[in-house]
Amino acid sequence: MAAIESVLQEKRVFPPSEAFAKQANIKGMDAYLALCKEAEQDYEGFWARHAREQLTWHKPFTQVLDESNAPFYRWFADGMLNASYNCLDRHLSTQPDKTAIIFEADDGKVTRVSYRELYRRVCQFANGLKSLKIRKGDRVVIYMPMSIEAIVAMQACARIGATHSVVFGGFSSKSLHERITDAGACAVITADEQMRGGRAIPLKPAVDEALGMGGCESVKTVVVYKRTGANVAWHAARDIWWHDLVNGQADTCEPEWVEAEHPLFLLYTSGSTGKPKGVQHSTGGYLLQAILTMRWVFDYKPSDIFWCTADVGWVTGHTYIAYGPLAVGATEIVFEGVPTYPDAGRFWKMIQDHKVTVFYTAPTAIRSLIKAGADLPKKYDLSSLRILGTVGEPINPEAWMWYYETVGNKRCPIVDTWWQTETGGHMITPLPGATPLKPGSCTFPLPGIMADIVDETGQSVEKGKGGFLVIKRPWPSMIRTIWGDPERFKKSYYPSDFGGKYYLAGDGANRDMDGYFWIVGRIDDVLNVSGHRLGTMEIESALVANPLVAEAAVVGRPHEVKGEAVVAFVVLKGPRPSGEEAQKVANQLREWVGKEIGPIAKPDEIRFGDNLPKTRSGKIMRRLLRSIARGEEITQDVSTLENPAILEQLKQPVQ
Ligand code: WTA
Repeated sequence: MAAIESVLQEKRVFPPSEAFAKQANIKGMDAYLALCKEAEQDYEGFWARHAREQLTWHKPFTQVLDESNAPFYRWFADGMLNASYNCLDRHLSTQPDKTAIIFEADDGKVTRVSYRELYRRVCQFANGLKSLKIRKGDRVVIYMPMSIEAIVAMQACARIGATHSVVFGGFSSKSLHERITDAGACAVITADEQMRGGRAIPLKPAVDEALGMGGCESVKTVVVYKRTGANVAWHAARDIWWHDLVNGQADTCEPEWVEAEHPLFLLYTSGSTGKPKGVQHSTGGYLLQAILTMRWVFDYKPSDIFWCTADVGWVTGHTYIAYGPLAVGATEIVFEGVPTYPDAGRFWKMIQDHKVTVFYTAPTAIRSLIKAGADLPKKYDLSSLRILGTVGEPINPEAWMWYYETVGNKRCPIVDTWWQTETGGHMITPLPGATPLKPGSCTFPLPGIMADIVDETGQSVEKGKGGFLVIKRPWPSMIRTIWGDPERFKKSYYPSDFGGKYYLAGDGANRDMDGYFWIVGRIDDVLNVSGHRLGTMEIESALVANPLVAEAAVVGRPHEVKGEAVVAFVVLKGPRPSGEEAQKVANQLREWVGKEIGPIAKPDEIRFGDNLPKTRSGKIMRRLLRSIARGEEITQDVSTLENPAILEQLKQPVQ
């Protein structure tokens, strides 16, 4: 809490320059407040107006919000549209030759595709998917490197009404298997390998492994895009090369018109239990927020070169790479590689080379680049930049100031965007031409987003106080359900604690005396490691699945670059190891978690004990473990502990 108290003392305020405000899509706080007022006075009318203005409907909607089966809200339900049509076809008459994607490969090779060419490729691939008998409502898993093809695959699914579920390429075969079976996917789209930081990382072998684990009978086809040309095992009855699938396919494909509520995609994310949840998003409402936030938050102008550095495996890569930028007709960068290869100047060089105007990345990337060379950006011409953005975790004021001064040269507003996989798009964020910025605060909710901070009883907290972050009214781009588990959806997001009325985000937040929102972090057992959501239970399940392990508890600890580090306390079935043996087992377990979930989940530290601190009723006292992991003095009452002596043991790091 010390950290949050110090940011609440933050006195620096950076209003937008007059020149910026004048050219902005939302010009000043009065314009912002007018939109908020419009939404408050006529909530449905506000959203209906934007949905009519921003989306191209095949059949216009007549209903706006349907609350009859709350909290399973429906928006624009009798309207029909197609997401891919909205991202591609509608630009064909106005700007067919405009570059849609500038792709930069790991090795620096640049490829450009125009809107016309992207449309052609999406149509061909969509026809290919149809030839595989993939139909509206079928689920397709996409396990791809960052590439033009990954976006083509997503758009092609949208075009034929198939629901895609992208799995981050860094997830293990086991995680992939879990997602394929939960979604009941009929096909997997992958590549032979992906290139990151000069290294080839296999993808197809992970798909083979996942499908070999059983329970994947629903998968009839694996489409393989040839990225590196590596040798891959081939199952002739099931596998087909991407280039063979599209060969000879017509380059137009009538879009499948779907209801606004049709599930555009599922995206699995971590919750407070061991099993990841398949967050289901709609077509109409989702796309609406993607477009509005491109215009409002990124102040989109046709001359922009937009770059969101996220991977398409995360929601940020869905909304701000695969859909939002294309829906507004932007030119965007898609980057295959990593920020530190060939050196830590890569991002800055790419901004210079491509004249990027809007740059959107994560605080963890900013912190690691400060470490790698705080002066490096000065060697590059970054004068094309006009807006900077961050997402994924709270940004500490020092990193914010560096971003503002060294990258943005004190000219570029920073939009610190708070949102989640479940919210579909930005929720609480500055507007670059309106909001006076405070380093470390995501400032105010967007117009139409009724975000608030409440106490345990659901009452709004006063200025200067903290509580639970909630959203009080349903909004168009919200999660519709958890795939296959509507009860879990209700319990997770509309718990009865608050009367089941408000969307509970799972974050704690403070409101300062000026009404600014400050996100503190998760209130549940979810960690935020380098901007990635990881459930402590997920990592614990992975650990106890190892034959050596009897019991495990995982907690987070603040980390300078990653935001949070993963610390695991482990009880082995055999005797507690020490010295070199402990080191060896710890390494083994780290690798194991890497294989079970993915390298991002590997514990930073593992400590061994003969037992874990438990209450007499057998509950693990995580708060104690958190203090131990942080090296803090234990101030909690330990008198209820079954086994207080264990604490001394667990304080010992593995040497
Ligand atoms: C955290 C990523 C502070 C938060 C889009 C949230 C943030 C979780 C911010 C969602 C921000 C995201 N400031 N914290 N600007 N943005 N978070 O689902 O804890 O991967 O609940 O979505 O990230 O992570 P997710």
